This record gives sequence, C-alpha cells and structure tokens, in this order.
Amino acid sequence: MAKTAKLEIDGKIYELPVVIGSEGEHAVDVSKLRADTGYITLDDGYGNTGSCVSNVTFIDGEKGILRYRGYPIEELAEKSTFIETAFLIIYGHLPTSAELRRFSDLLTQNELLHEGMKFHFEGFPPNAHPMAILSSMINAASCYHPRLMEGYNPSHFDLQAARLISKVRTIAAFAYRKSRGLPINYPKPVYKYTANLLHMMFSEPYQDYDLKPEVVRALDLIFLLHADHEQNCSTSTVRMIASSRANLFACAAGGVCALWGPLHGGANQAVIEMLEEIHKEGDDGSKFIVAAKDKKSGRRLMGFGHRVYKNYDPRAKIIKEQCDKILNSLHITDPLLDIAKRLEDAALHDPYFIERKLYPNVDFYSGIIMRAIGIPVEMFTVIFAIGRMPGWIANYKEIMDEKTSRIYRPRQIYTGATERKYLPIEQRTGA
Ligand code: ACO
Repeated sequence: MAKTAKLEIDGKIYELPVVIGSEGEHAVDVSKLRADTGYITLDDGYGNTGSCVSNVTFIDGEKGILRYRGYPIEELAEKSTFIETAFLIIYGHLPTSAELRRFSDLLTQNELLHEGMKFHFEGFPPNAHPMAILSSMINAASCYHPRLMEGYNPSHFDLQAARLISKVRTIAAFAYRKSRGLPINYPKPVYKYTANLLHMMFSEPYQDYDLKPEVVRALDLIFLLHADHEQNCSTSTVRMIASSRANLFACAAGGVCALWGPLHGGANQAVIEMLEEIHKEGDDGSKFIVAAKDKKSGRRLMGFGHRVYKNYDPRAKIIKEQCDKILNSLHITDPLLDIAKRLEDAALHDPYFIERKLYPNVDFYSGIIMRAIGIPVEMFTVIFAIGRMPGWIANYKEIMDEKTSRIYRPRQIYTGATERKYLPIEQRTGA
C-alpha cells in the first residue's frame, strides 16, 4: 500500500500522499492541500520544500555525497572531462565514442558568434562586470537564432544546447578581452573546449598562449565540479523561467543573474577579496574569524557553509587537493592559500562553526586555483557560469519534456495593510 502522512487541521484529519525518491528520500505531497483544506504551506527560503522531482543530480548533504546521474563526483573528477560530463548531465548516460564525437563536433561548429554581436560588446562601458556582459550577451545571442523563439522543439534541442554551451565560452572570453581593452581572439577549431577558452582569453596577436596541460586540466576540473548541483538558487531560477516556456537562452541569461550574488556563485570572488583583505591587514585570519562569528560585524566567512551540505562539500575536498597540485606544478607560493588553510583549520575547531555544521564549500579554494592560472577575480563567477550550463540545460529539458509540468507560481501569506480608502493628496498627513 502506498505510504501516506496524516495532517490534522481544525480537528479534521487529511491524508497526504508520500513520494519516495530512488535514494529513499521522503516527501509529503502537498499539491492538493489548499484545494482540500484552504491552507498552504509556508517555507521561507524554501529550505524544506521540494520544488520538483528530478533525475539529474543527487546530493546527500549530511553524508557529503554528490552524484551526477548516479556517478559519484569523485569518480567523474578522476576519470572524465567537462564535455563528457556535460553530455552525461544533459542526456542521462555516458556517451559512446560516436556520441561524444558528434557532441564535440556540434560544439566546434557553433563556437563563433555572429559578427553583429561585436557591436553589442562595444556598447558596454570599460570595466563593465563580465557577469553583466555574459547575461546580456546570452540574451542578445538568442536574437540571431529565430528558431529559439518558436518554442521548445525536441528535434532542435541538441543544436540549441550545443550552441549555448559553445557560445557562452566565446562570449565569456570576448567579455574579458573587452574589459581589458584587448583585441578579441577567435576560437580555434583544433583546440578542445577548455583549451580554447584559455586561448581566447590569453593569446595575443603576436603570440599564442602556452597551453600547459596541467592548467587546462585544472580549469576543466573546475568546470566539471560546477556542472550541476540540483535545485540551488540559479538552477531554480532557470526552472522558474523555463516553466513559463521561455526559450533556453532566456533561461540561461536569468540563471547567470541569480548566480552572480555573493551568497551563491559570486562567493568565489568574495572569498579571494576576503583573503586579500586579511593579508593586507597583516591578520593571520584569527581576527577575521572573530568578526565572522559576530552577527553585528556584517561579516561572514565566505566560502563556508551551505544550505544542503552539513558536512564537508565533496567538491571542496577535490578542489583543495587540486589547489596544492597546481600551485606545486607551477612553482607558485600564494600567501592566500596559507591564510585559507589557517582559516579552515581554525573554523573546523571552533564551536561556532561546529555547532552550525559550517564546512568549506566549493568556492573556498576554487579562486586560489583560478588566480594561479591567471584568471582575474572578476571572471571567477563567469567561469562558474560556464561550468553550470549543462546543469541548467538538463533542468530546462526536464521541464520541457514533462508533459504535465505547470508554470511555477508559489503563493504567499500576505501581512500588509488590509483594505483602506484612497485619500486625495491634500488630505494626506504622511506615513
Ligand atoms: N560565516 C559565519 N556564519 C555563518 C556562515 C558563514 N559563512 N554561514 C552561515 N552562518 C551562520 C548564520 O549566521 C546562522 O547563524 P545563527 O543560526 O546563529 O543565526 C547559521 O550559520 C545558519 O546560516 P543560514 O544563513 O541560515 O544558512 P543558509 O542555509 O540560509 O545559507 C549560505 C547558506 C548562504 C551558503 C551561508 O552559509 C553563507 O552565507 N555562506 C557564505 C557565502 C558562501 O560561501 N556562499 C556559497 C555557497 S555555495 C554556492 O552557492 C556555490
């Protein structure tokens, strides 16, 4: 017999269906609650709300588990590449050689931007934040592909998805070159995905960028580790927009904006700014830890804490190891890494952080790797956004393929003024 939960309201018992996920997670289905009882559920910040059922990514925050389509993140990080993992996330299975070749070919065929887009880039002021450029340019790019406006069509999906993943990288590189007043570099079809981004960002007209395999691998790993993370703020934003049947590029542009905030993807930039400030002030991190525990200080230990992980973020573990590796191989000593390690050690032994189960998240060490390979701090969240595209695309596809999916439209409990009369301006006395 199907499991149910009982809810008593005003002496009346209501039986609610229980939905059980493939990893044994339980949810009480309240979708008919208002129709049956007149009540809604209230869950500020959605900490206890399942907004959908999804097949893409599984997280067990208590145990520190992350799996894309069933594959542990540790195994993918060791054996896969970003593009293979992107295919896995979008299509649900690891690609055969032929599938991977076709996917890679589609990416290569779609890596150029329409020449008209160059004029859009010219319109941004110097020092425009590349996240603003990225979001605007993704939306602008949609105008060059009128089929996108025709609505979701499964037979066009492969092309639209590959187009987005490929063009986002070119837009990101152009945004960076523009912000530095440098001439743009076109992609080279001979380079693979991540190498091509490094080439477009760092080659000069007189000299090609030296593509060190360990640098390409480190950046590819960062993309792979960011490729999806179930119903976080930006992915939920993408799903929200997709539920209105907006096109894939519009959804991704909205996802970029949601990702930008310092409590989400913008934390990687905020971590480096925090570490730089600590370094500049000659603090070893101990003064900052005191401030981060004091709510009145307005400070937080950036790169620490997570809504879902109440254990070490498995991505942070992999990134920390990679951080040591790349700095050693490039013979870089970064004082910020020492400060980060000291902060982590102090926080992991501090009752404030222990009681609240605050551990390093993916952003704590990723910025140090990006600094080491020459990516400027304002591009950190852009790198995150490039990595997150497969996850957004897979979630978009899930909504579009779900025949019974409805527009996302939460309710609220209104606490404002009750009905009052409109007063002519001369009779108003002020608030
Ligand atoms: N430093 C200090 N205290 C913290 C931190 C932190 N980084 N994170 C949470 N806390 C405290 C809160 O003040 C709160 O304390 P209280 O119970 O005494 O009021 C308690 O821990 C719980 O915190 P919430 O804000 O309720 O946790 P929530 O799940 O809403 O927020 C978040 C999670 C936004 C990630 C938060 O931990 C944070 O701000 N971290 C720093 C920013 C960051 O690293 N963001 C990246 C997240 S990962 C990602 O998006 C890719």
